[in-house]
Amino acid sequence: MKKPVVFCTENEYIVSPKVEAYLREHVEFIRAEKKLTPEELRERIGDADGLISMGYPIDDRLLDRAPKLRVVSTTSAGFDPFNLEDMKKHNVIGLHTPAVLNDSVADMILLLMLAVARRAVEMDKVVRDGKWPVTPFYEFFGSEVSGKRVGIIGMGNIGEGVAKRCKNGFDMDVVYYNRHRKLSTEEKLGVEYVTMDELLATSDFVVIMVPLDDTTRHMMDAGKFAKMKKSAFFINASRGPVVDEPALIAALRDGTIAGAGLDVFDVEPIGADNELCTFPNTVLLPHVASATRECREAMGQLAAKGIVEFFEGKEPANTIKFFKK
Ligand code: DGY
Repeated sequence: MKKPVVFCTENEYIVSPKVEAYLREHVEFIRAEKKLTPEELRERIGDADGLISMGYPIDDRLLDRAPKLRVVSTTSAGFDPFNLEDMKKHNVIGLHTPAVLNDSVADMILLLMLAVARRAVEMDKVVRDGKWPVTPFYEFFGSEVSGKRVGIIGMGNIGEGVAKRCKNGFDMDVVYYNRHRKLSTEEKLGVEYVTMDELLATSDFVVIMVPLDDTTRHMMDAGKFAKMKKSAFFINASRGPVVDEPALIAALRDGTIAGAGLDVFDVEPIGADNELCTFPNTVLLPHVASATRECREAMGQLAAKGIVEFFEGKEPANTIKFFKK
């Protein structure tokens, strides 16, 4: 029997040779030879039955040109580039890679909190530039992290990972805001549910970890930054557009907040001309919270396993909820 054709837009750092070998046992695997633009993908998708990709818009523009496509597996937990309704209309289901990245992303959020509060990047630059400060203790006073209050907006699995680290590792007071209150998490981790306003007004670190959709776009706006303490830090490793970026820039410029640690941006990649790059009190990463060898391998494996299971007629465990039967 002819194997299903699976087209892959991602290179070997995302879909490793080991994952490719596994896929080849089950499907006809075609990997794009270079990074395609979305339009190039639309031209190349042809008769593929499955697609492994990350960050490409999956909507009518692509689906109209992919008559055989039945499944798209993104090597990411977030699936905001998927137009779920368009996919449903074309009878295409979506898979993603949640859970396996929880620890890597939670670790990175802690890194951002520590780096921005303790001014690690600023000091690293000073040392590298041969400008060891005369009085480092005074010139580079940071803010204490241990024992402070962290407010987590979005208590999903990654939010829980952050809460656990903050509570157990740094003896922090953890409050959270979530669409639905999570009593079992409160009991398990000793965290407290508060209103958004209370979270903003009382937290020393505000961590946002929500998926991007129509209800969360620009959730952190000027009004919310204004409610934060002047001494508080803002951390985002979810998706850039959950923040009104000009409002964040204004808050940093005016000293409304003390600093920001960001792994994600409104439009990626950002250039050196983005005003966020001009502030000493920002720590900026190129959307790499899940970028450990172990985590990316696990994400690639999960994305591939889902594709294989789908073509075996099963419902993969990593099917996006919206498509589950
Ligand atoms: C995810 O998995 O959603 C990460 O942000 C990588 O895109």
